[in-house]
Amino acid sequence: MTEQVQQRMNADLKIGILGCGPIAQFAHLESVQKARNAVLHAVCDADEALANRFGTFYDAGRIYLDYDAMLADPDVDAVIIATSDAFHVPAALRAIAAGKHVLCEKPVGVSVEEVEQLAAAAQESGCRVQIGHMLRFDPGIQAAHAFISGEMGDMLAFKAWYCDSTHRYDMTDAVQPLPRTGRHAMKPSGDPKANRRRYYMLAHGSHLVDLARFLAGPIVAVEARLHERFGAHCWFVDVEFESGALAQVTTSWATRVKRDDLIQVQIDGTLGSAIAGGHRCFVQSLAATPKPTWNVEVPQQMNFDEQWQEIPDNEPFKNSYRSGWEQFLRHVAEGDPLPSPMLEGAKDVQLTELCYQSDRERRWISVPS
Ligand SMILES: NC(=O)c1ccc[n+]([C@@H]2O[C@H](COP(=O)([O-])OP(=O)(O)OC[C@H]3O[C@@H](n4cnc5c(N)ncnc54)[C@H](O)[C@@H]3O)[C@@H](O)[C@H]2O)c1
Repeated sequence: MTEQVQQRMNADLKIGILGCGPIAQFAHLESVQKARNAVLHAVCDADEALANRFGTFYDAGRIYLDYDAMLADPDVDAVIIATSDAFHVPAALRAIAAGKHVLCEKPVGVSVEEVEQLAAAAQESGCRVQIGHMLRFDPGIQAAHAFISGEMGDMLAFKAWYCDSTHRYDMTDAVQPLPRTGRHAMKPSGDPKANRRRYYMLAHGSHLVDLARFLAGPIVAVEARLHERFGAHCWFVDVEFESGALAQVTTSWATRVKRDDLIQVQIDGTLGSAIAGGHRCFVQSLAATPKPTWNVEVPQQMNFDEQWQEIPDNEPFKNSYRSGWEQFLRHVAEGDPLPSPMLEGAKDVQLTELCYQSDRERRWISVPS
């Protein structure tokens, strides 16, 4: 280890958070405070009341109302971009130009053209850009990833659901503090949700395609279908992976969950299968696969649920935002692999666009390389 790397490891990276809106309040402010090797150096929000409220509450060293002023602060090493989607790419480009590393909320941008521009700028600069696809860092998903890489053999099929309960927000609002919003908060012009078909695919579908690629590798073609009724959007996406494995990923709000979690993946391989949600992962190896009987005369006698082995989570619990953020810091400070790089986020935006196109044109679409 060089002296330079050792020095960086010993120093806390100074973080500036752009945006003190809901996602900063739910995820980033606290994650930075708890993260190893990081200090919340600054917050910035155009809404003065929000900036002061959360900057003071979380002990930020400096409170900015102007983003350029925060970027001009030589002590800021990295910024978290926690603003509306439409502001992500412009804000990330400015951060890179100022020599700051970036962790940007998902989706990284709102069009393929702009994310390609950011990808090129990020590659040219020495700055690191990570996208906040935090589901990758859920303990259950990390365990599934390890099982796939280690014991599962060749992948045959992949299924993923990202299905919120119809009552999710009633309950969340009941048990979780309501986020504070500011009257002077900066919002993009127009309604980003005006085209809900595209918006839901970008907002929720990007999580799904990102999970699919994280767990099963590059995607070469998609065929998407949208069913829109009673204000609910239900997306079914058939996916073909470069490996030849097949997948179906679905996202829907009007659904009833009889699984372990609101998000769940099932991966079937030649030597075993895994079923994982955000927090837990169950596996069944080929060697441990029971031999069920199937008798149409009587109800099934076997309890299939009991036949799966849970992978114990022995790590100290951290929420997925914090885990992703800490891995990003380790990348910046110690050179560990970048866990959710910019190019991956750009691919996710491209894939959501192709899904949207596939539904309109009712056909399979190959993913341009
Ligand atoms: N990872 C997830 O699962 C997840 C969940 C929810 C939201 N998000 C993403 O988080 C992002 C932010 O969501 P939100 O609901 O907190 O947004 P928001 O628009 O309510 O809040 C953003 C805040 O940033 C401030 N801001 C924006 N641009 C600024 C600028 N140039 N200078 C100073 N202040 C600026 C605004 O004033 C506002 O207070 C979105 O991209 C959203 O998609 C991700």
